[in-house]
Amino acid sequence: RRRIAILISGRGSNMVSLMEAARAHDYPAEIALVLSNRPDAEGLDRARDAGIEALAIDHKAYSTRESFEQALDEALHARDIEFICLAGFMRVLTNWFVERWAGRMVNIHPSLLPLFRGTQTHRRALEEGVLVHGCTVHFVVPELDAGPIVAQAVVPVVPDDTETSLAERVLEQEHLLYPQALRMICSGRARLDGGRVIFTDSWDASAAL
Ligand code: GAR
Repeated sequence: RRRIAILISGRGSNMVSLMEAARAHDYPAEIALVLSNRPDAEGLDRARDAGIEALAIDHKAYSTRESFEQALDEALHARDIEFICLAGFMRVLTNWFVERWAGRMVNIHPSLLPLFRGTQTHRRALEEGVLVHGCTVHFVVPELDAGPIVAQAVVPVVPDDTETSLAERVLEQEHLLYPQALRMICSGRARLDGGRVIFTDSWDASAAL
C-alpha cells in the first residue's frame, strides 16, 4: 500500500472520504499523514479522531514560501510519504515543491477543467450559464489547475441553483471521485506517460457517467 499524505486547509470532507475508502483492506493506499497549513483547520481534528497523525505547519510562521515548503517537504520525508493528495489545500505551491513531487501529487478541483481554474468556480459557472459542471482530479504541475486529468465527474446545473446548492451537488461527486481516482493511480490503472494520463481500464475514468 502506498503511503499517502493529504494536505488540507479547512474542513477536510474530501480527506474524510479518502480516509474512509482507505479503510478497505483491498485499497491500494494508506493515509499515513494529514497536514494543514492552518492550525485551526477543522479537518485536523477529524483526522485525529480517525487515528491518523495530523500535523499543522503554519505558513504564517515562515517568512518565505520556500522555507514553508521546505518544512512541509521535511515532514513528508520523515514519514516516508510516497504520494500527496491535495484536498482543499489553499496555498499555491512553488515550482520547486511541484517539481520535487512531480508525478506523485494530485489535486481535486471543483470544476470541469480546463474550465474555471482558480477560485469561486461555482459562482463563475453560474455566471457563465453553463448547464453542466463538476469536478476534476488531476496531477499537479507548476501552472495552477492545469495538470494531466485523471478523473472527472459531471453534475447538471438546474434553474434555481445558488452557489451553495451547486457546490453541494459537486461536493457529493468529489467524495466519490477522489477515492476512485486515487485507487486507479495506486493500482497502476492510471499512469502518467509523457505528460498525459494513460488508462488501462478506461471505463473507470468518468465516475459519474
Ligand atoms: C473542495 O470543494 C475542493 O474541491 C476545493 O475546496 C473544497 C474543499 O473542501 N478545492 C479547491 O478549490 C482547490 N483550489 P473539503 O475541505 O471539505 O474537502
